Amino acid sequence: MIVCVCRRVSDREIARHAHAGMDFDDIQFELGVATQCGNCECMARSLVQQCHASRPMAAIDHAACAQQPAPHSGGSLVWSSSPRSQAA
Ligand code: FES
Repeated sequence: MIVCVCRRVSDREIARHAHAGMDFDDIQFELGVATQCGNCECMARSLVQQCHASRPMAAIDHAACAQQPAPHSGGSLVWSSSPRSQAA
């Protein structure tokens, strides 16, 4: 499944890099995930976290990335941003 639409990065690519020992920042630099609109950041971070928890297969935790309309989106649903990206 594509996690980052802007950069066409899949959950498998993210998991493969995370299982290789890369943290989110490394994966972001390598793949470009969450470097444009940022709507995929929560899901990408969740996948990396799950992979680092030594789970054999990462599964997208939809509950952890609750969909909320962004103030600038005109009411359409977008992924919520992490507190880190909001501080930037
Ligand atoms: S969907 Fe990943 S940066 Fe836009």
